[in-house]
Amino acid sequence: MSLTIDVLTLFPRMLDGFLAESILGKGIAAGHLAVKVHDLRNWAVDKHRTADDRPFGGGAGMVMKPEPVFSAIEQVQTPGCRRIYLTPDGTPFTSAIARELSQQQHLVLLSGHYEGIDQRIRDRLIDQELSIGDYVLTNGTLAAAVVIDALARFIPGVLGEEKSLTHESFTSKLLDFPQYTRPAEFRGMSVPEVLLSGNHAEIEKWRYARQLEKTRQVRPDLLK
Ligand code: ADE
Repeated sequence: MSLTIDVLTLFPRMLDGFLAESILGKGIAAGHLAVKVHDLRNWAVDKHRTADDRPFGGGAGMVMKPEPVFSAIEQVQTPGCRRIYLTPDGTPFTSAIARELSQQQHLVLLSGHYEGIDQRIRDRLIDQELSIGDYVLTNGTLAAAVVIDALARFIPGVLGEEKSLTHESFTSKLLDFPQYTRPAEFRGMSVPEVLLSGNHAEIEKWRYARQLEKTRQVRPDLLK
């Protein structure tokens, strides 16, 4: 029972490198998840393959038309699938949401563009709206990539070591401790003595103290 993700976007090539590289590329090659990227213009009805139009009521910018998006979603959706729209006015995306999405069987990710999309798409076809942060991207394709990357890490087998999941930030609600590797001495900077000591209890204590310190400095909101 693996996860299939359909991405609907006006810029499918933005995802080419992303899906082929690194841990995600390996996870897809190994069959832990499948990602299908679709060009929304394939569902446009006119000869110019128009996907946007001026907003009713006036105002700047263009709005994504309902017809191509309705046709696209109706074609790729399956019973029980989760249809998600990426938008800066969506619910803030978190690690908890990523984990929950990783347990689904089928996701449809709709990436918006222009000043937005026709509200009827959101009213009728969208189950969940997600924002990846308080800033506005030129389109939602990178946001879809972020969601895919974050949820893929929760799919069993995608990360080699289970441990790298349990130890990290946002699973524990603390930020990470600093990491070092060889050489122990580099340009006059040395690795903290405790990490070379082999004393695992002391190492754990030191790491936890660094996590608290870092979290207090950078993200005090996580400690509340
Ligand atoms: N589309 C544009 N900006 C976005 C954001 N911050 N999150 C999700 N989708 C977006």
